Amino acid sequence: ADALKIGIAGLGTVGASLVRILQERHEALATTCGRAIEITAVTARDRNRDRGVDLSAMTWHDDALSLAETADIDVFVELMGGAGEPALSAVKAALSRGVHVVTANKALLAAHGIALAGLAEEHGALLNYEAAVAGGIPVIKALRESLTGNTISRVYGIMNGTCNYILTKMEKEGLSFEACLKEAQRLGYAEADPAFDIEGNDTAHKLSILTSLAFGTAIAADDIYLEGITNISIDDIHAAADLGYRIKLLGVAQRTDSGIEQRVHPTMVPLESVIAQVDGVTNAVAIESDILGELLMVGPGAGGNATASAVLGDIADIAKSRPGAQHVPAFGRPVTALLPYKQAQIQ
Ligand code: NAP
Ligand code: HSE
Repeated sequence: ADALKIGIAGLGTVGASLVRILQERHEALATTCGRAIEITAVTARDRNRDRGVDLSAMTWHDDALSLAETADIDVFVELMGGAGEPALSAVKAALSRGVHVVTANKALLAAHGIALAGLAEEHGALLNYEAAVAGGIPVIKALRESLTGNTISRVYGIMNGTCNYILTKMEKEGLSFEACLKEAQRLGYAEADPAFDIEGNDTAHKLSILTSLAFGTAIAADDIYLEGITNISIDDIHAAADLGYRIKLLGVAQRTDSGIEQRVHPTMVPLESVIAQVDGVTNAVAIESDILGELLMVGPGAGGNATASAVLGDIADIAKSRPGAQHVPAFGRPVTALLPYKQAQIQ
């Protein structure tokens, strides 16, 4: 079969890891997928920056929109970040010409996910975003595919590696909040603007995506009670421990008698619970459903390799699919079958 041609916009922590892995595992992936995966086009802001990977065989584009609009590609991989430009226009441009999109950009999806899913459906393209929630944990696939037919009552967990890393380091190594955040940034865990991590917005973006998948509704990222970890002190952590608890930043979405409830806030969890034992950059997502029961997934939640692993899985899914194959809808069901969020609230 012909090689799958991909274009990558964004060559930072995640993008550079992805390029390296695709190059190192080129032969093995070609065997597994039944066709080679070739990176034909790339872009980032600074053409001269050394990214530790060989980009010489790829066409450099000066901007993401031109890559998405004109490059000879089957898949546009968006790894720049940000809910606005250039990510939004570039993703729209790719989908509008039937080019599949793989993205790790939860801010973009929280703001425009359903509109982009509609565009994908209209043009017969796939919109895959496993890396957007909980790093390498395959939670999107679980909700979008594996749990189809289950009625889900609750989704909750630790969805931000930076915050969990900070809370863990503060408790176990006695380091200051600022020192822990700096280290998380150095390790490539934090967002370009780390306020999104520590103020809880990143968890809220991820939760809003999971809510849509779990409850079959439109995304409502503004309807989330939001509190980050900026006010958590080492004294709070020790006081919680004295009472038998550990403080974790949780995202929770659940059905209640009055509709769907979404919230993000620091939570005291019992020390003996599995969630309390989830340390460092590790994430954990629990899904409660009627047929399966409780599913708990724990794994690396941020960082170049963990995230690139999920992006690679999404690309490989496309490489393995054959022309004319039925597509999995981006939010698990056709966009027209998603309930308006408010309607779900009053059911
Ligand atoms: P990053 O290290 O800051 O890299 C961003 C890349 O995008 C850089 O290569 C940058 O170019 C490029 N870029 C930024 N603005 C651009 C523009 N206007 N035009 C063209 N290129 C532009 O970010 P990252 O950590 O790799 O994250 C990328 C995406 O993955 C984000 O959506 C993030 O939320 C998501 N994500 C990250 C992680 C993680 O652990 N890091 C995990 C899950 C999801 P330069 O290099 O030239 O500056
Ligand atoms: N900044 C995010 C985190 C990256 O720390 O979890 C993974 O989405």
